[in-house]
Amino acid sequence: MNFEFTEEQLAVQAAARDFAQTELLPGVIERDNKQEFPTEQIKKMGELGFLGMMTDPKYNGGGMDAVSYVLAMEEISKIDASSSVVMSVNNSLVCAGLEKHGTEEQKQKYLTKLTTGEQIGAFCLSEPEAGSDATSQRTTAVDMGDHYLLNGTKNWITNGNSASVYIVMAQTNPEKRHKGINALIIEKGMDGFVVGKKEDKLGIRGSDTHSLMFTDVKVPKENRIGAEGFGFSFAMGTLNGGRIGIASQALGIASGAYELALKYSKERKAFGKEICQHQAIQFKLADMATNIDAARLLCLQAAVMKDQGKDFAKEGAMAKLFASQTAMDTTVEAVQIHGGYGFVKEYHVERLMRDAKITQIYEGTSEIQKIVISREVLK
Ligand code: CAA
Repeated sequence: MNFEFTEEQLAVQAAARDFAQTELLPGVIERDNKQEFPTEQIKKMGELGFLGMMTDPKYNGGGMDAVSYVLAMEEISKIDASSSVVMSVNNSLVCAGLEKHGTEEQKQKYLTKLTTGEQIGAFCLSEPEAGSDATSQRTTAVDMGDHYLLNGTKNWITNGNSASVYIVMAQTNPEKRHKGINALIIEKGMDGFVVGKKEDKLGIRGSDTHSLMFTDVKVPKENRIGAEGFGFSFAMGTLNGGRIGIASQALGIASGAYELALKYSKERKAFGKEICQHQAIQFKLADMATNIDAARLLCLQAAVMKDQGKDFAKEGAMAKLFASQTAMDTTVEAVQIHGGYGFVKEYHVERLMRDAKITQIYEGTSEIQKIVISREVLK
């Protein structure tokens, strides 16, 4: 076993860290306050190759491994989780799903633009009555011969308005239950497709989360991903990879908060000495550092297994479960170490605490991760 990163992986990590410091940090508090999408920043991320990191270069991707992706996601998420969720969804749910299962025409038409950020993608599985219970899709795609007629509503869709390309799961054959679901590519501007209201969220407020409405949208058959009825399998397999992205986001939120708390504890004085000289603070720092290392190792384990072509569903779920809990615990303690300063926006840790919560909810709640893990353990 070798715990060293390659020079290439370290260069990606350094580039992501540099980008986060110079391009994302200025304005991150303001974007959070105003719920402002980081349009310019995401454009630059696309130009630098952060939006299609693992995709084959023949589709304008970076051809990098999943380990590099984890390292970059951590660095971006330390500073701006609103930007890193755009990056995660575009990389792991949209580009990876299309590259693995799309037709050559779909890849040429969509993937080549999604990898560069010319277009942004969204992954549309959740519905008002189908969150964790994802097989209960109410959105329908009726087979009309040469096209599907799409009707329904999707909820809590990341990149809901900023996206141009949407992968939408919809039920075609309800009698076949989840095996009747199709994954369809929808373009913004198709007749009958309306982007609904923007959610006013607790965290990741710079990202745009919307409901989507489809009324008699005509979707050409060539926009279906994979065979008839493959949609649910597509969604589950793609989400396995997505969970590595969100786990790394949670890791970054935790390590970002930890770094701020560590620095502050060396500067702030109380009872005649720096607060890091007090054991009450030292024990908090020790717990944070230990959990963050464990979370990072779980993320990297899942990434290495993915890079080796092994089944990583359990490891991805474990990484997400543990890293998201670490993000919550660490950010709460980072606010505590900052005391009153931690409760105000200027010190960043309160934002990281708010951002942390969603990592226990999206791309499968912590409870769903436990279902995935326990099923694998009991196989
Ligand atoms: N990997 C691959 N296949 C999987 C899988 C996994 N992790 N989990 C389930 N499946 C497959 C099963 O093998 C089964 O297929 P077969 O019938 O062919 O064997 C099929 O999916 C249905 O599974 P179950 O019969 O076990 O169905 P269930 O209803 O008992 O459980 C579930 C399914 C695992 C709970 C699933 O509904 C689930 O994962 N829910 C969470 C949904 C989710 O993660 N949503 C996130 C939304 S996207 C998002 O958040 C993006 C964003 O914006 C950031």
